[in-house]
Amino acid sequence: MNSFSEYIGSQFGNPHGIIGMICCFIMNRINRPMYDRTVELLKLGPENRVLDIGYGNGYLLNSVYRKTGAELHGIDISEDMRKRADKRNRAARNDRKLFLKVGDCCNLCYEDEYFHAVTSINTVYFWSDTAKGLSEIRRTLKTGCSFYNVAYSKEFLDSLRYTEKGFKKFEPEELAELGRQAGFNTISVQDIVKGKSFVVIYTK
Ligand SMILES: C[S@@+](CC[C@H](N)C(=O)[O-])C[C@H]1O[C@@H](n2cnc3c(N)ncnc32)[C@H](O)[C@@H]1O
Repeated sequence: MNSFSEYIGSQFGNPHGIIGMICCFIMNRINRPMYDRTVELLKLGPENRVLDIGYGNGYLLNSVYRKTGAELHGIDISEDMRKRADKRNRAARNDRKLFLKVGDCCNLCYEDEYFHAVTSINTVYFWSDTAKGLSEIRRTLKTGCSFYNVAYSKEFLDSLRYTEKGFKKFEPEELAELGRQAGFNTISVQDIVKGKSFVVIYTK
């Protein structure tokens, strides 16, 4: 892998600066089916709270707010993304319904049973400890509520040169098994684009 591919791959894991902004813009276009399916699956209203793990430039949060009016929370390791997501979600901020943090999803700074839903789009590849991340998400979810973990298939990621380094790639069944070990009650998998992308739904 050449150093340019390596640099682009690292930007997806921690977007920053102008290149990070461009990478997010491209993601927003290419990943549209992932955002659409996630918003479609969420059953939330204005009285509910949702957490988006690795919110990037806040594209998903903005779509969720338009549809549900739910209180928006997010955690991302990139301070640059916090600024971008904050700008994009001005409407929720003005309504005092936007709470963005900079931090690591493997150590969530929220109380137990706090959220009515948790989402993650294309972030699980970068978590330092997948089992810990899942168990932290489970802890912060209310009983009966779900975590929607959206990802590309291993086969699809293997076809992209920039994912050679720094990406942990998973089969849906591996993510499901890790969820069982983390104590989730029910786990199901849906294809988004067959063979290319999927969502694992973990219910507490
Ligand atoms: C490929 S981008 C996806 C952004 C957004 N979810 C989207 O689909 O538009 C991955 C995001 O996850 C964030 N991220 C990576 N590791 C993280 C971690 N351990 N905890 C929280 N966020 C993380 C990155 O900073 C980046 O914004």
